[in-house]
Amino acid sequence: MDEAVINERERIAALKLTNDKVPIREWWFKDNALLTFAFNTSSATVPEGERFIVRAVEEARDLVSDSGLKKQADILIHEETAHALMHDAYNRYLDTQGFPATKHVLETKVLLLFFERIFTLKMRLATCMLIEHFTATYSKQIIEVGVLEGEDTDERMDRVWSWHCIEEMEHRSTAIDLYRALGGGYFLRVLISAFVSIAFLIAHVRCLIDFLVAKRLLFKWHVWQKGIPYLLGKKGVYYLVLKYWLFYFKPGFHPAQIPIENRFNKQLHHYHIEDELVGYFDVPVR
Ligand SMILES: [Fe+2]
Ligand SMILES: [Fe+2]
Repeated sequence: MDEAVINERERIAALKLTNDKVPIREWWFKDNALLTFAFNTSSATVPEGERFIVRAVEEARDLVSDSGLKKQADILIHEETAHALMHDAYNRYLDTQGFPATKHVLETKVLLLFFERIFTLKMRLATCMLIEHFTATYSKQIIEVGVLEGEDTDERMDRVWSWHCIEEMEHRSTAIDLYRALGGGYFLRVLISAFVSIAFLIAHVRCLIDFLVAKRLLFKWHVWQKGIPYLLGKKGVYYLVLKYWLFYFKPGFHPAQIPIENRFNKQLHHYHIEDELVGYFDVPVR
């Protein structure tokens, strides 16, 4: 808590909303249902993935001797543990809003526990690497395009996602560095990644459709018309995920080859803010 917090104005605005018990509205991003639900879908599918990553990285950390890499692993473990706790609160909030979030948390958990049972450590690390590649490119787009910098975005959700995205960008190389230190090679990386890409896509799209069905919006044309540019357009959240997906399959790929630019000078990661963020979801249901 001692270090400078550049986004102090946003912290105060978010705190005021919480203190005034202002509910987080159902469509918290510019009243755009599709984009809001896409973020909510990521929240539902993320915490069990983060716990899967933590378990694999803990095991890998104990097998490597490089102290710098061990330190990188410790940072990732700390950050993913905090993210998962925050998303647990976020997902409880989604349940109270009528989204079947817990159902998808549990489905993701079952799938990842199955992977954990049948995969070797290197295969699990290869799974982590692809998840980390998706989250890093998703995060890069959100932060660099300033997707959440609109005036009509709930400040609390801006802080929740900006914090998560910045840390994802910063620790994007850890899983692949561990994998390589343990002798992981190209063939296994791309084989697992092709398989996991399909599983990830199915889980994510199923959850998004379920959320739209829950709100009776799946077949509302205006929702798609207004939302698609925010998902797939040049400024859409999935734009870089799609653009960099094939890039990942290049031999010799390393996440550091994708440059990161924090244009909005967001600095939310320099102190432990997870308790503050979890508190945002303690607001009454409207
Ligand atoms: Fe995370
Ligand atoms: Fe991560």
